[in-house]
Amino acid sequence: MTEHRVTSPLGPLERLKALQGADLPVHGGRTLAYVYDSGEPTVDRIAREAVAAYAASNALDPTAFPSLLQMENELVGFACDLLDAPASAVGTVTSGGTESILLAVQGARDARPDVVRPTMVLPSTAHAAFHKAAHYFGVGAVLVPVGPDFRADPAAMAAAIDDSTVLVVASAPSYAHGVVDPVTEVAAAAAARGVRCHVDACIGGWVLPYAARLGREVPPWTFAVEGVTSISVDTHKYAYAPKGTSLLLHREASLRRPQFFASAAWPGYTMLNATTQSTRSGGPIAGTWAVVEHVGDDGYLALAGRAFEAVDAIVAEIDASPALRLVVPPDSTLVTLATDDSLDPFTLTDELLARGWYVQPQLSHADDGPSIHLSVSAGTLAHVDELATALAESVAAAVAAGPVSVDPGVVAFIEALDPAALGDDDFDGLLAASGLVGASADGELELPTRMAEVNAMLDVASPAMREALLVAFLDRLQRPSRGER
Ligand SMILES: Cc1ncc(COP(=O)(O)O)c(C=O)c1O
Repeated sequence: MTEHRVTSPLGPLERLKALQGADLPVHGGRTLAYVYDSGEPTVDRIAREAVAAYAASNALDPTAFPSLLQMENELVGFACDLLDAPASAVGTVTSGGTESILLAVQGARDARPDVVRPTMVLPSTAHAAFHKAAHYFGVGAVLVPVGPDFRADPAAMAAAIDDSTVLVVASAPSYAHGVVDPVTEVAAAAAARGVRCHVDACIGGWVLPYAARLGREVPPWTFAVEGVTSISVDTHKYAYAPKGTSLLLHREASLRRPQFFASAAWPGYTMLNATTQSTRSGGPIAGTWAVVEHVGDDGYLALAGRAFEAVDAIVAEIDASPALRLVVPPDSTLVTLATDDSLDPFTLTDELLARGWYVQPQLSHADDGPSIHLSVSAGTLAHVDELATALAESVAAAVAAGPVSVDPGVVAFIEALDPAALGDDDFDGLLAASGLVGASADGELELPTRMAEVNAMLDVASPAMREALLVAFLDRLQRPSRGER
């Protein structure tokens, strides 16, 4: 075995800090995807200390770690109050939005053993986690196009429900456009057919109830809506908790039962799980509990107020810029914007990053062109003036840089590839043809500092080809660092 020699003079924690310097900042309100910043250092300190105190604890066995069970039940209780859940409601802490969604789909499938080929009816804007669930659990995804306002079309969804449907889904709000689906109508259509209705409030669940209390217009979407059987809400998003927690709530315990898994079919302990994980770190649970305990209901109301003030300011900037437009007015804290023909949207995101702002490019989809996503946090409010300046400068720089075109030879190369059979040689050929992502002598990928050309290339590829290229890319990135470091 090769000896692993660490030649760095730094200790592990110093080295960690140095490594982290390459990452997007998680504080400062300038990273407008992936992370959610309350802007309050105390929240982060409490989270850090609670995570550290429970990092080695295991929520696998609630009798061994009853404190974690208590924290879980208190978190679910808080969410039940927030989401108008009836007294019969129950819930589980999961590791994130995707796991909550996976479990909602798995539970819906397993509650209907009579359905041979189960399907679920999704608005076309539903999060990709549902496609992952379809892939994992063999539940067919019936995609229903959304209306021109990017909200689910309830009549079309009702028409798509048939005897194979085990789940109907709505979003509150959808990630890509930030709008709330007409949950009342969608849930009524599901209930009329005796089918479960899951509301994916992973990103909006901890902020929309406060938006309503702040007097903003929010269509009904919680358990107050008849027919809603389960809701996912991520605490590691707008509850500003450390990464690694989401909640999956069910209207009543019987709906949750198929989610549980027990196995006594081996000689060890009887495995008994409520989630896809078995060992569950106590760290994220304790970190989330401590943050929710510290911030509390009034604190979340204030944080939501700040996030929406920031949203309104950003919307005003977009409205004032002739080169930019909102794709749709936001219902929540997510802003989606598009550019006019005078500039390339992917150049704009690069320019913003160069000025310290991370916003997320969204590639063209179906009939819709590329757009830019912003998840706005309370922590952004203190910096909205800087964002306005950065946006204006970035628009000017992107206009000056001119359009980004993909070499016709590269387009032809991509079109000739078969996404179902994309091999290493094809990927290497594309890297060479595009000249965008280099490879060092030892074969390690060297990432480009600007992404506009890479995004433009992905934008011309079919969805299947995008998936294949990015999988090949990830496969190349995830290679062991061996020997000396
Ligand atoms: C609406 C929605 N659903 C599900 C998810 C998936 O959550 P996670 O990334 O925590 O798995 C997200 C993430 O942004 C989301 O916005």
